[in-house]
Amino acid sequence: MNKIFIIGYMFAGKTTYGRQLANKLLMPFIDLDKLVEQHCEKTIQEIFEEQGELYFRQQEHNLLIKLCEDDNPSVISCGGGTPCFYENLEIMKRYGKVIYLRTPLNTIISRAKKGRQNRPVLSGISDYELNNFITKHFNERESYYLQADLIYDSQSITNLQK
Ligand code: S3P
Repeated sequence: MNKIFIIGYMFAGKTTYGRQLANKLLMPFIDLDKLVEQHCEKTIQEIFEEQGELYFRQQEHNLLIKLCEDDNPSVISCGGGTPCFYENLEIMKRYGKVIYLRTPLNTIISRAKKGRQNRPVLSGISDYELNNFITKHFNERESYYLQADLIYDSQSITNLQK
């Protein structure tokens, strides 16, 4: 039980918060998306385009298990979909504490409008459809996120480095 997993929807701020928490706790920080990219030697977008989402989910799952089997403590920021596939959430809870970084939907939507071109799950959605798509998708996923051990409201987290 020496790992802390940060989960939440895309654009919740998981990487920023995870990095700050790791610095504060003097623990190594790991970004699961980056690990998948390094392992596959491709960007997430390329993996989705060339091998498809299922392949990405399998890589994500395998690397999560590998991380958990490593005894070193770490703070791990997960992808937005990580807890929603296979038994990833149970695995995370078995090997550490899971924090859901909860960010208001309107913040997620406005960040997604600017940055969604490198999020393959959102890249095919028009501006017009984006609000509805994210609202529905977020609601479907939140039942997984809410199973976390702890829920942190991103608005109430002050800069941990201060
Ligand atoms: C995904 C979120 C992304 C990345 C991939 C799929 C998702 O991570 O894992 O594009 O299904 O929500 P971030 O949540 O860090 O953007």
